[in-house]
Amino acid sequence: MKPVEIKKDIFWVGAVDWDSRDFHGYSLSPRGTTYNAFLVRDEKTVLIDTVKSDFLSELMCSVSQACGGEPCIDYMVVNHLEPDHAGCLDTIVERFKPEKIFVSPMGEKALRSFYHNSQDWPLEVVPTGASISIGKRTIQFIETRMLHWPDNMVSYIPEDKIAFCSDAFGQNWASTERFADEVDRGILTRLLADYYANIVLPYSPMVLKTLDALAGMNLDIDMLCPDHGLIWRGKEDVAFALDSYRQFALQKPTNKAVIVYDTMWHSTEKMARAICDGLVSEGVSVRVMSVKHNHHSDVMSEVFAAAAVIVGSPTHNNGILPLVADVLTYMKGLRPQNKIGAAFGSFGWSGECVKILAEHLSGMGMEMVEPAVKVKNRPDHETFQACFELGQKVGQAIKAKLAAA
Ligand code: FEO
Repeated sequence: MKPVEIKKDIFWVGAVDWDSRDFHGYSLSPRGTTYNAFLVRDEKTVLIDTVKSDFLSELMCSVSQACGGEPCIDYMVVNHLEPDHAGCLDTIVERFKPEKIFVSPMGEKALRSFYHNSQDWPLEVVPTGASISIGKRTIQFIETRMLHWPDNMVSYIPEDKIAFCSDAFGQNWASTERFADEVDRGILTRLLADYYANIVLPYSPMVLKTLDALAGMNLDIDMLCPDHGLIWRGKEDVAFALDSYRQFALQKPTNKAVIVYDTMWHSTEKMARAICDGLVSEGVSVRVMSVKHNHHSDVMSEVFAAAAVIVGSPTHNNGILPLVADVLTYMKGLRPQNKIGAAFGSFGWSGECVKILAEHLSGMGMEMVEPAVKVKNRPDHETFQACFELGQKVGQAIKAKLAAA
C-alpha cells in the first residue's frame, strides 16, 4: 500500500495483512489485521514501530515514498518489541544506521534478548516523562507497562496532538480505510472488544491506572494511533476509544450468559439446552457454544461480554474432554473478573466432571451457583428439570448482581 499522510508530514507506513487468521499464535483475527508503523518527517525523520518481518518490503516501499524517493531514517522509536511490530528492526538498523533508537526501560531488556546482535545499536532509554526534540516537534514518552507486554510505551507529539499508543485501542481489521470514522461502527466496536477480551483483559487493573495517569497528564489528544487496525481521529472518537477501554476494564455485569460445553453422545449437549431454557425464562440473553464449533478465542469474547459462565463436559478418563480443558486454560490466563459460574455434565461410571469443572471456575474467582448437575449416561425428565432450575438460579444470580452494581 501507499503511505497515508495522517497529519501534515506524519505518515502511516504500515502493512495490511489480509490473510492473518492466527493472531499472535493463540487468538483469531477473522478479518485479518494491520501492522501500523508511522513516519514523522521533521528536521529528523523518525520511524515509529515497524511491521511483521514478512511485510518488510512493503514497509521499505512506503518509507521511501513518504520520504519523497530518498529514504532516510534518523531516529527510531520502538513502542513495543512484539515481533509483529519490531520484526524489521534489525534490517532497518542495518540499512539506515539511525543515529538513535528510543526504547522504554523494559523495552531495552526485551530488545537485548530478541536481538542478540544489538550491542552496538545506538539505544537511548526513555522512561515516562522523557522527551526529545526532532525539530519543530517534540516526542514525549509514557511507559504503559503490561499494556500488553512490560515494554509497551506511548509516544506523544504535543504539537500535533497525536499519540502512538501501541497495543492499546487496537482492533484486528484488514481494511483499505485507515480511520475509525470511515468504517462500520458496529463492527469496529465489536472488534475493539474482541481484541480487548483476548489480548488486554488480564491487565485490566493496569488499564485503569494508565487511563487515570493519562487523564492526570491532561494530554491534548485528537488522534490515537494503535499498532493494529483503524486510527481514532477527532476528539469524539478519541474519547470513545478511551471510554470503551474504561468500561471494558471495569468488567461490569451484563444481562448475558454463555454456556460452553463439549459432548460425546449428546447428553451434555441436551443438558446445555435445558440450562439455556432456564436462563431464558429469567429474561437472560444466552449464547450456547460447543467447543467443537467455536474457537477458544470466540468463546472468550462471549465470556468477556457475559455475567455468567456455565461450563459442561462429560467425564472422560476420570477427567474432562480436552477441548473443554483448552478453553478453561485459555480463560484462566485471561483472568475474567466479576463472573458467576456453574458446572454440569454427564458420565458413564466415575463422574468426576462437575467437580473438576467447578474447581476450574471457582479457581478463577467465579461466584458458583449450586448444585452442579450431572447425569449417568442419558438425561431423563428429572435431569432436564434440574438443568432448567440451574439455569433459573444462574439467571436470578445475574439479576441480583445487576441490582447490586
Ligand atoms: Fe501485536 Fe503486543 O502486539
